Amino acid sequence: MSDDQKRVFSGIQPSGEAHLGNYLGAIRNWVELVDEYDCIYCIVDLHAITGDFEPDEMPRQVFDLAVSLLAAGLDPERCTLFVQSDVPEHAELMWILNSVTPLGDLTRMTQFKDKSARQESVGAGLLNYPVLQAADILLYRGELVPVGEDQLQHLELTREIARRWNHRFGEVFPEPEPLIGGGARILGLEGVSKMSKSRGNTIRLLAEPEEIRDRLSAAVTDPARVRLSDPGNPNVCNVFALHGHFSDGETREEVEVRCQTADIGCVACKERLAENMGEQLRPIRERAKELKANPDRVYQILEAGAERCREIASETLEEAYELMGLRRRHVPDAVRADADGAGSGS
Ligand code: AMP
Ligand code: TRP
Repeated sequence: MSDDQKRVFSGIQPSGEAHLGNYLGAIRNWVELVDEYDCIYCIVDLHAITGDFEPDEMPRQVFDLAVSLLAAGLDPERCTLFVQSDVPEHAELMWILNSVTPLGDLTRMTQFKDKSARQESVGAGLLNYPVLQAADILLYRGELVPVGEDQLQHLELTREIARRWNHRFGEVFPEPEPLIGGGARILGLEGVSKMSKSRGNTIRLLAEPEEIRDRLSAAVTDPARVRLSDPGNPNVCNVFALHGHFSDGETREEVEVRCQTADIGCVACKERLAENMGEQLRPIRERAKELKANPDRVYQILEAGAERCREIASETLEEAYELMGLRRRHVPDAVRADADGAGSGS
């Protein structure tokens, strides 16, 4: 984390156990960035409360996600991992940024429109969600933000908010750039929509081999391939796409040709995938077991992360307050002059 490294910031919601979509689409990318940048990663529990959540389950979800992230390879010696609500400055900066955020920009956000259309009562938190996200990034003067394509609109708004604030009060916030890594959009097991917890079409990142096999056995392959003797088309098969992430080149080629010539059936193809997936994810599972057996260590890591973040965040926030004419700790010159004048006149 040297001074000349650019700062990366990203966040992930503790809304359930990490799945392969999260891993291949985001987490794996986060791990790679650690070599090159000063990376700060945040478990965004304050964002999670804008949707359905159970207070009793939240601590567990935060812990499980921290375990998944650490087990997937985020090395706490080389990056910073923390929980959003441990750093109160996020909510404070959000309030400040609200003052330069046009309401119209918030109501036209695709995610807000989608989510609010699906809910009967819409909380103001859902509307302000992207302002909190902007605060997350800007508090640390994040320059690069690894996100999926669905977050590009929020990032554009963050840039707009930074521009407006800087224009009005002074240059404090750099305009962050998105980092779209790999572009992996992992489909769910039904092969139609994005893999996502809410759709129940996931494989857990920490699934044991048996569970992987079980989940894959229900996965949809080339829909046109009905009988074993039908040749298949790997290009439209989601199981083949997953081979691309977990099997070596030789296996992929073999499976591809044998599928096209009806020499291998979907069951055998899935078996091969299950084996490779189970094997590739083994080190992650093993690290996760060690971490789960040592929860104090996990909380120590999160606390150390929060400590570093509070330091950076309070500095940025102090600068922002100062430029906005807020939180003066000493008697302002004008007040002092008046007081002096009043004193000498009497
Ligand atoms: P979420 O669980 O939706 O908050 O997503 C956390 C991170 O995982 C975000 O960066 C998403 O872009 C990424 N992600 C979630 N589901 C998928 C998926 N099916 N394919 C690729 N990336 C995903
Ligand atoms: N909204 C992001 C998502 O749903 C999560 C997030 C919150 C985030 N704060 C962030 C991502 C800051 C990047 C930077 O995936």
